[in-house]
Amino acid sequence: MIAPSILAADFARLADEAAAVAGPPGRGADWLHVDVMDAHFVPNLTLGLPVVQALRKATDVPLDCHLMIEDPERWALGYAEAGAHNVTVHAEASREPVALAKDLRAAGARAGLSIKPGTPLEPHLETLRHYDTLLVMSVEPGFGGQEFIPEVLDKVRTARRLVDTGHLTLLVEIDGGINADTIEAAAEAGVDCFVAGSAVYGAAEPARAVEALREQVRGASAHRWG
Ligand code: DX5
Ligand code: ZN
Repeated sequence: MIAPSILAADFARLADEAAAVAGPPGRGADWLHVDVMDAHFVPNLTLGLPVVQALRKATDVPLDCHLMIEDPERWALGYAEAGAHNVTVHAEASREPVALAKDLRAAGARAGLSIKPGTPLEPHLETLRHYDTLLVMSVEPGFGGQEFIPEVLDKVRTARRLVDTGHLTLLVEIDGGINADTIEAAAEAGVDCFVAGSAVYGAAEPARAVEALREQVRGASAHRWG
């Protein structure tokens, strides 16, 4: 799955930018990744619930809301109630991640847990039994256009193994620095869903960039499965 990040899009034209990656069924974006930042959990400020509510009406592409915010217990449920398909909170910010996942699911969303590049996976494995997605950050959260940190792929491989052996049931998602040079390594490590901001919206034709990334994943996955 490919999830273009609108952080790299033109914020004055979000409906058009969503349409630019939508494509026909089976092509185009699988999810639209929406980066919510609060200037506290990360040193940047982007958009919040009103924009997500508006975007929900403007596109049929499922919204993948990545909440880089403090106190997700207070805010995350609103995104599920607004119709986000997947709502991801940060393990470093959540005080009650199991209860939060239950609430998100009860509101009709998938529940996602994200870990920053320096955050180990092991302490969160029990919690992840309650989650539908694991978002492995491959840059420090806060800004688009940063360089991919390959060391995080060890966490992807571990998560992939746990999913393949039935110990976890979730999608493994990666976010940060994903482009033509890095996506194959991530695919070989076992990623299911690839967030790409600048690689998609920095391209002359965003929909073609999505297709090109998907083709690369297909090639790399074929290699992985032999
Ligand atoms: C970073 C965000 C990412 C960002 C990725 O904090 O979570 O989703 O948009 O942008 P690129 O693909 O440019 O690294
Ligand atoms: Zn993100």
